Order: sequence, then C-alpha cells, then structure tokens
Amino acid sequence: MADPVLETFDLTRRFGDLIAVDRLTLQVGSAELFGLLGPNGAGKTTTIKMLTTLLPPSSGRAVVAGHDVAREPTATRRAIGYVPQLISVDAQVTGYENLWVFARLYRIPREERDARIRDSLKFMGLSNVADELVRNYSGGMIRRLEIAQAMMHRPRVLFMDEPTVGLDPIARDAVWEQIELVRKTYGTSVVLTTHYMEEADRLCDRVGILHRGRLRALDSPAALKASLGTPGATLEDAFLHYAGEEVELSGSYRETGRTRRAAVRLE
Ligand SMILES: Nc1ncnc2c1ncn2[C@@H]1O[C@H](COP(=O)(O)OP(=O)(O)O)[C@@H](O)[C@H]1O
Ligand SMILES: [Mg+2]
Repeated sequence: MADPVLETFDLTRRFGDLIAVDRLTLQVGSAELFGLLGPNGAGKTTTIKMLTTLLPPSSGRAVVAGHDVAREPTATRRAIGYVPQLISVDAQVTGYENLWVFARLYRIPREERDARIRDSLKFMGLSNVADELVRNYSGGMIRRLEIAQAMMHRPRVLFMDEPTVGLDPIARDAVWEQIELVRKTYGTSVVLTTHYMEEADRLCDRVGILHRGRLRALDSPAALKASLGTPGATLEDAFLHYAGEEVELSGSYRETGRTRRAAVRLE
C-alpha cells in the first residue's frame, strides 16, 4: 500500500497468560472502509482500544495518521474519532448540548462552534431533534449522534466498535449510509468491527478476519469469497472457513446484541 493512514506491526496485547491480540500486522489506506470481523472474544475491541490509545500494546507497534500510538498518544487522539461499543453520549441532555461539550473538548473556537454543531447535526439527519433530550432518541439516532460527536474535529481515521449492533435493519441501513457519507465527504478512513456479514460484504473495501487474536485472512470481500473456490460462496462462508467451523455465528453474537440493547435502554 502506497500511503497507509494506519499501520500495525506485530501488534500484541496480553492479559496474563491470554494473548488477546497476537502479532497483528495490517495497513489501512486513505478513505478506506476497513472491517474487522471475528467471533466474540476474537480480539476486535482490544485491537480498537490499542489503536485509539486506550490500552497500551504489550509488544509491537501501531502508527495512526503518522503517530506512534504508544509514544504520541495526544497527537494520535487529535487525529482520530472513536465510537465505542457502549453508549458514549449523555442521555440527560440534548443532542446539541452533547456536541457542544465535544466542540469545547476539541477546542473548536467559540465563534465557530454553533455553526459546526448545526452542520454536524444536519449532516447526520438530526436537525429536527437537536433540542430534544437524547433519552428520547431511538438507538439509530443515538448512533448517528455518536458519529457526529466523533467527527466534530474532522479526524483522519474514525474507529467504530460494533456500530450497528442491536439496531433494527432500517436504523442499521441509516447508520451505514452516514458512515459512507462521512467517508465520501471528508475522505476519512473508517475502521469498524461488525458481525453482520452482509453489511461487511456490501460496504467494506477490505476485511480482516480475527480468530483467537490472530489475523486469519485479510482481503476484499470478493477475493475472500472467491478464495473458497465454491460458486455462490458468501462472506459468512468465508468467515466460517477462516475463523474455524466451531464458530457458531448467531449464538456467539447474541450476547453482544443483548448488551447493546440493554445499553440503549439505559438513561
Ligand atoms: N481487561 C481485560 N482483562 C482480561 N482479559 C480481557 C480484558 N479485555 C479483554 N479480555 C479478553 O481478551 C479476549 C479478546 O477480547 P475482546 O477484544 O473484547 O474481543 P472481541 O471484541 O473480539 O469480542 C477475550 O478472551 C477477553 O475475555
Ligand atoms: Mg468487542
């Protein structure tokens, strides 16, 4: 890859004896939409946490937007946006007020803040609920507000951990549309985790399949499907092939979905 925006070199994280992420080496390009796939416990969240400076690597390294995440955490943070798996907005205040807090945090000059916030809300299709309390938002609206929040400072890389888990299909489509729009409008590289194989197939330029901390496959969805040599193979087939047949898709993800739905109900 000519000019990667993100590179990892043998990135590793241990928790005691467990190797949660095992010598991960990959690159993500400018404006690329990259999907990290893997069953529960594969190491997706741990990877995202290392790339967003929230968790120090045990060994290896990662460079994001030209910054070594371990040595230059502050510069890294300025260059990235992060939408965590659990709700990251305040339900007790309005959408506008949530973005105001982040506009201050990101030091957007006071005289520009209102316009930037209004723009962001409009961009995410949330203008009409800007002054509503977030506790009255649907799960899909909350996700879009979180994306707006993470994009306030126009980062070069946007990280999202399970952005569509627990959303109904219509809300999921709306979130994906916004992700596409962010990428097209700002040229942002997007790194996300998902377990919706059809979405990943339709929307990701490339996907990496993680299993027990190891990267088992890394390519475009089309190439991964073709690599099976079975006509009509789906990305789910490829996922099961590379992540191991013992993975039971619906079962292993039910837990995550429940967590998210429970979180959406929280106030
Ligand atoms: N803080 C922690 N302490 C101990 N083990 C952890 C911690 N965080 C994650 N793990 C373990 O690391 C592995 C990978 O977890 P995680 O990155 O959350 O997986 P995923 O996001 O793919 O479901 C799991 O076995 C998990 O139990
Ligand atoms: Mg996770």
